[in-house]
Amino acid sequence: MARLRHETILIVGASSGIGAQVARDVAGHGNRLVIVARRAGELAAVAADVRAAGSPCLDIVADALDPAAAAAVVARAVAEFGAVDVALLNVGQGPDMSMAEVDVADVARVMSVNYDVTVNYLVPLIAQLRRQGGGLIAQTNSLAGLMGIPRQGPYSAAKAAVRTLIDAARVELSPEGIRFTSLYPGFVATARVSTDGLPKPFQISEKQAARHVVRALRREPADAAFPWPTATLVRLLRVLPARVSDVLLRKLAR
Ligand SMILES: NC(=O)c1ccc[n+]([C@@H]2O[C@H](COP(=O)([O-])OP(=O)(O)OC[C@H]3O[C@@H](n4cnc5c(N)ncnc54)[C@H](OP(=O)(O)O)[C@@H]3O)[C@@H](O)[C@H]2O)c1
Repeated sequence: MARLRHETILIVGASSGIGAQVARDVAGHGNRLVIVARRAGELAAVAADVRAAGSPCLDIVADALDPAAAAAVVARAVAEFGAVDVALLNVGQGPDMSMAEVDVADVARVMSVNYDVTVNYLVPLIAQLRRQGGGLIAQTNSLAGLMGIPRQGPYSAAKAAVRTLIDAARVELSPEGIRFTSLYPGFVATARVSTDGLPKPFQISEKQAARHVVRALRREPADAAFPWPTATLVRLLRVLPARVSDVLLRKLAR
């Protein structure tokens, strides 16, 4: 299990929202951090907080859509700190997107900014964790990755693809000491989603979400869904007959 003490922790997507708060929460305790995003100013502000809490911190500006840049980030983390003990792949975006209005390019873009960004880190990280004899890879999925959510169809599909990829990797790679945890948040009040117009039942704060993530990084369940009211609602909707769950989902999406 990850102790989150004296470990090298890589967080991809750490300049704002859940990832930035997790970086601040795991800072100190002898941990070394590598944080990554595209917005240099925001990322530097998080790095300053992490260093102030007592952790060495490498902040790297890199686009997760670029596979070479992702591989270079993993290599730089290893060159600086010797290994990656814990990686949190947190990049993703879920825009409000009705299937009556999308075009093909919109759907492809949502797939890239949720699926490709994860794969680009997953592959070099698996290679590195095999070399070093194990480690934890966590990924911020979404409860939307467990079922098709109206107005979030392309996002649900992309997160579901990530979910099944990581499920397969977990089964294949556990004999090599590589552990995987998929995180399934419900609605989280981050700046990015504050104006998207989607209804957000049982929304939690960034700080609450980060606490759930840090607890999951310590305990390493295969799946961590939170908060419990939304997670329970999704579990219920998944077992109901489609003619019932469709009506409920249509009401919730209004
Ligand atoms: N907020 C919610 O309600 C909610 C619910 C369920 C799941 N989630 C998931 O939680 C994760 C974090 O979302 P959040 O709400 O905290 O949003 P956020 O504040 O937008 O966080 C996303 C992070 O990823 C970075 N990022 C985005 N695209 C990138 C790219 N191409 N290359 C490198 N970094 C990139 C962003 O920084 P830069 O823009 O600086 O690159 C930012 O640091 C996402 O995977 C999201 O799908 C969110």
